Amino acid sequence: MSSDNAKGIKKGLTNYGDPEFSVYIRKAFFKAMGYGDEELERPIIGIINTFSGFNSCHHNFGDLIEAVKRGVLSQGGLPIEFPTISLGEMFTAPTTMMFRNLMAMDTEEMIRAQPMDGVVLLGGCDKTVPAQLMGAASVDIPAICLVAGPMITGDYRGERLGACTDCRRFWREYRAGNIDKGEINEIEGRLCASTGTCMVMGTASTMAALAETLGIMLPGGAAIPAVMAERRRQAEATGRTIVSMIRKQLRPSKIMTRKSFENALRILMAIGGSTNAVIHLTAIARRLDIELSLDDYNRISDETPVLVNVRPSGQYYMEDFWKAGGVPVVMKALEDFLHSDALTALGSTVGENLSGVPQPPAWQDVITGKDNPLFGTGSLVCLFGNLAPNGAVIKRSAASPNLLTHQGPAVVFKSLEDLHNRIDSPDLEVTEEHVMVLQNAGPIGGPGMPEAGYLPIPKKLLQTGVKDMVRISDARMSGTAFGAVVLHVSPEAAVGGALALVQDGDLIELDVPNKRLELLVDCEELATRRDNLTLPSPHFERGYGKLFIDHVEQAHLGCDFDFL
Ligand code: FES
Repeated sequence: MSSDNAKGIKKGLTNYGDPEFSVYIRKAFFKAMGYGDEELERPIIGIINTFSGFNSCHHNFGDLIEAVKRGVLSQGGLPIEFPTISLGEMFTAPTTMMFRNLMAMDTEEMIRAQPMDGVVLLGGCDKTVPAQLMGAASVDIPAICLVAGPMITGDYRGERLGACTDCRRFWREYRAGNIDKGEINEIEGRLCASTGTCMVMGTASTMAALAETLGIMLPGGAAIPAVMAERRRQAEATGRTIVSMIRKQLRPSKIMTRKSFENALRILMAIGGSTNAVIHLTAIARRLDIELSLDDYNRISDETPVLVNVRPSGQYYMEDFWKAGGVPVVMKALEDFLHSDALTALGSTVGENLSGVPQPPAWQDVITGKDNPLFGTGSLVCLFGNLAPNGAVIKRSAASPNLLTHQGPAVVFKSLEDLHNRIDSPDLEVTEEHVMVLQNAGPIGGPGMPEAGYLPIPKKLLQTGVKDMVRISDARMSGTAFGAVVLHVSPEAAVGGALALVQDGDLIELDVPNKRLELLVDCEELATRRDNLTLPSPHFERGYGKLFIDHVEQAHLGCDFDFL
């Protein structure tokens, strides 16, 4: 085996019992690919290519990789591209979240196993950026993030369309009978106008913005649309930067510190970011032994205004956010709240990077100043109470304000299948005052915590004009969705959490201002129900599915595996 200090092609030698032979035979096989002796002396930059025919969001990676390679070569590095798993949201069953940890393991092990001095993480779609950051954090060699960039918007009859906030809005109108089959089919062809990630502030845009804030992506890199020439120039600059990161030994553990995670929490709240980011940031931080508690999220949320007017919390799209200046302008507006001494991939600090960035310019209203915010406090709130002893999450900036304080009787669905079978039944006893509860859709119960927390409004209520109701589950919700939706209830129902004890008609109180979520049933009755509770049988008996349900942690811990 090679020593820990080995570099380039001498790193991580295949074990034949004779290290010199291992180098010799490795060189021979590199030469089989056309590399010469001089090139093989250079620092090696791995480029993780997550292109896949099952991932529409990553279809610009051929161009981006070419640009990264140009940047690497210009600085004397040797770029070598390699594949890992790719996770396309709409193409993966039962849900990509079940495979985020598998992708993190693939990323970690392939970086560690192959000879590279630094790595470019090329991702974009929701789970890919967190998986890559988790893996890279564990290996801790110099690493930098590059994302696909958001799609540009489409349009329908003069109205701009964005995936997938408008996917859900139009589907709701179709279910309510307000638009017909022909119209919904026409809209289907216009929702995704180009390659790239969803062009609202969903999970992909949020995680890109947080990677930029963490300092592990170049400044300005999160919001450039996928099809713009600037996206390729960003890729080229990323290639140049990773070579300098190797020289400075700028590793993830030096960049992603407690301070940079606190900066990321701040920007998460200010951009109206996805609820999924709570799980992902927690998991990435824990890979570096940094504990982010739900109280940390609440503390920073209470001090941070929402400044970004992008769907689903606002009205604009990611390309507008980019034109307005993107993440650097949001960071500039909140500079007083940030740890300006946090280090970034450039080797400079956050404060140094922000020195030439303007305050939110007056000619636009996509990014506001902190004196005239969209909302006075941050977008996400973590809730606690007897229904969620370890916490739950709501996106208050995307919920109907009148439902943030609500008390109503529960209508309970025991599983996703039960929900599917009964939600549109004319016999379902439900009014807009009810609280819809979905059980057994958490990390183990789902399995994989599907994005089913955005329970559809029952058709008979939709047809009377109801657009939002309180919904509670141990599932997740797409970052692109809107509503008074309480998610990530922990512990989940499938492990006997209090959510499993809720029955039809029980009163539930949601009190977002006081961060409370209570099941108003007395303790003795709950104890009796617990004694009689039967847990659902496991979804898997073998393979990765069994590994997943045996080892996945609960939502408030980030849903990583307990052995990672
Ligand atoms: Fe890939 Fe939305 S489906 S980012």
